Amino acid sequence: MKAEELRQKYLDFFKSKGHTIISSASLIPENDPTVLFTTAGMHPLVPYLLGEKHPAGKRLANIQKCIRTTDIDEVGDSTHHTFFEMLGNWSLGDYFKKESIKWSWEFLTSPKWLNLDKNLLAVSVFAGDENAPFDKESFEIWKSLGINEKRIVKLGKKENWWGPAGESGPCGADTEIFYWTGDPQKVPETFNDDNDNWVEIWNNVFMEYNKEKSGKLTLLKQKNVDTGMGLERILAVINNYNDNYKTELFSDLIKKIEELSNKKYRENKKEMRIIADHIKAAVFIMGDDKGVTPSNTDQGYIVRRLIRRAIRIGKQLNFPNQLWTKDLTEIVIKNYQDTYNELKKNKNFVLKETEKEEKKFLQTINKGLKKFKKIKGKFKSGKEVKGEDIFNLYQTYGFPLEMSLEELQKMKIDFDTEKIKKEFKEEEKKHQELSRTASAGKFKGGLANAKEETIKLHTAAHLLLASLKKVLGNHVEQRGSNITAERLRFDFSHNQKLTDEEKEKVENLVNDAIQKKLDVKMEEMSLEEAKKQGATGIFESKYGEKVKVYTIGEGENMVSKEICGGPHVKNTRELGKFKIKKEQSSSAGVRRIKAILE
Ligand code: SER
Repeated sequence: MKAEELRQKYLDFFKSKGHTIISSASLIPENDPTVLFTTAGMHPLVPYLLGEKHPAGKRLANIQKCIRTTDIDEVGDSTHHTFFEMLGNWSLGDYFKKESIKWSWEFLTSPKWLNLDKNLLAVSVFAGDENAPFDKESFEIWKSLGINEKRIVKLGKKENWWGPAGESGPCGADTEIFYWTGDPQKVPETFNDDNDNWVEIWNNVFMEYNKEKSGKLTLLKQKNVDTGMGLERILAVINNYNDNYKTELFSDLIKKIEELSNKKYRENKKEMRIIADHIKAAVFIMGDDKGVTPSNTDQGYIVRRLIRRAIRIGKQLNFPNQLWTKDLTEIVIKNYQDTYNELKKNKNFVLKETEKEEKKFLQTINKGLKKFKKIKGKFKSGKEVKGEDIFNLYQTYGFPLEMSLEELQKMKIDFDTEKIKKEFKEEEKKHQELSRTASAGKFKGGLANAKEETIKLHTAAHLLLASLKKVLGNHVEQRGSNITAERLRFDFSHNQKLTDEEKEKVENLVNDAIQKKLDVKMEEMSLEEAKKQGATGIFESKYGEKVKVYTIGEGENMVSKEICGGPHVKNTRELGKFKIKKEQSSSAGVRRIKAILE
C-alpha cells in the first residue's frame, strides 16, 4: 500500500465515524515559547482539550506533521524519526475509551480497512500508581474484543501515560497497540515489551486529567481522546517491512545516498538512515510557511545541526567532494509536495538555504582544520589531548568532535577516545547549564502570570502586522512570531531597514488602536469566506474545515482581521502601551521586531 492510500483510508474511516477532517498545523507552534516544535498531534489542540470549543466540532481526525528532537539519539534504528506524520483521531469531550479502542481495532483488523492479522497484535494498558488507578475499563474492553489476556500487559507510568506536552497541561493514561514484526510463525503467545520485534504502532490516550505546575493531577472539565499512529511505522507494517526506511517514504532517498557514497545500504544502515532522516526533517522545518533558516538560535539552530550532521556523516561515507544536499532535498520535495503544498510553494527557498548552509559548513570545517593543525603540537602524546581543547574547537569554530577524533587518528598517536568523549560531554554540559541560566532570565517576570501577558502580546502582534502593512505596504507578511511573558518577537517580509520615522508611525498606529478601546471579536467561518472578507493569515485548509477569524474593531474602526487560533484579549484597552525596542534583519528579505507592552 502506498502512503497516500493509507492517509486517505485513515481519514475516510474516521469520517465514517462522524469525525471532521482538519489540516495539519504548522511545525512551528504559534504562541508557545516553551517548545520549538509541534511534537505530537495533541500539541496544537491543547486549548480544545482544556475545554475551548473547536470550530470543526467534537470529533476530529488529522494527519499532523511532527518533529521530535528528543528521539534524535535513537534515529538510526529502523523505527525512530526526527520528522514523522502522525495519524490522529480526537474526541473533545465526546466519546471515550469504548469507542476509541473499538474503532482502532476495527481499522487495524477489518478486511475492509487494514486487514492486519489479529494474531500478530498485542496491547498494553496502564497498571495504576499512587496518583491514578489501574485502567480496568480498557483492559476489559480489549478482552471483550477477543484478545487473549496474555497479550494484554499492564505497565506503569513510564510506558502507559502521556502528557503533558510542557510542564503542565492535559494528560492521562493510555493504551498502546503493538505489532509483531518478526517471523509470523514465531510470534510468542505472551506479549513482552522488551522484545524489539513488537513495534508500537498506535497510542490511544485518555486525557481526563490536567497536570498542574505543582505536579498535582486534577480532573479536566471533559474527558478527551487523543490517539496517535506514526504513518511511517504503520506503512512499513502493512507492507511487511521490518524497516521503515524500506518504505516509499524513504526508499528514493536511500537509493540516492547509495549512489553518492557508492556503498550498499545493508552494510551502512545506521549512517544512511541518519542522513535521510535529517535532510527530510530540515526540509520540512524550512518548508513550513514560517520561513525558518539555519541559524544559531531556536528552530534555526536545530535545522543547522541536522544539515551539518548529515554532511558530516556523508563525509564518513565518502560522498564525493561536491555539493550534494540539493540532490536529497529535491527528492524530499518531489515525494511530499502533493500532500504538503507548502513544500512546493517554498521549494526555491529551501533549496537555496540548504545549499547556503552546506557551503558555510564546508568553510567552517576548513577553518577548524587549520586551527586544529595549529594546536596540533599540543597533542604530542595521546595523554595530552583534553576534551576541553576539542570542545573549544567545536564551540569557537563549529568543528565537530568526530572530525577532531578523525584528525587525531591521522596523527597516529595513542589517545583515549572514550576519555575525550567524556570530557567533551562534560564541557558541553557546563556550557548548556550556563546558557540555560541565561535563558531562564528571559522569564524574570515569573511564569505565574505569563499566560495573561502572552495573550496581550498576541493581540499586540495582530495590531503590529496590520500597522506594518499600512506603513510599509501590502507585501508585508508575517514570517513567524515568538512570544514570552516579557516580549513579542515578530518576523515579517520586507527588504529594508525601517527608518525611525517608519518605526514611529507603526508604533503610533498600534497605540491608536489601543487607545480607541476596540473590541476583539471571534467568528467561525469557512476559509473561503475568511479570505473573501480579506482576513490575513497563512493558514491553508485542505479539507474545507472551518477556521476562527479574529477581528479587531468594527466598521470604520476595523484595524485587523486575521485567521488565528487565539486566544486574545477582549478589548484592546487591556494592552497598555506598545513600544518597539529593536528592529533588525532576521534573514534575507525578513526583518525582525522586538516589542513590549508597558
Ligand atoms: N499524544 C500521543 C502520542 O504522541 C498520542 O497521540 O503518542
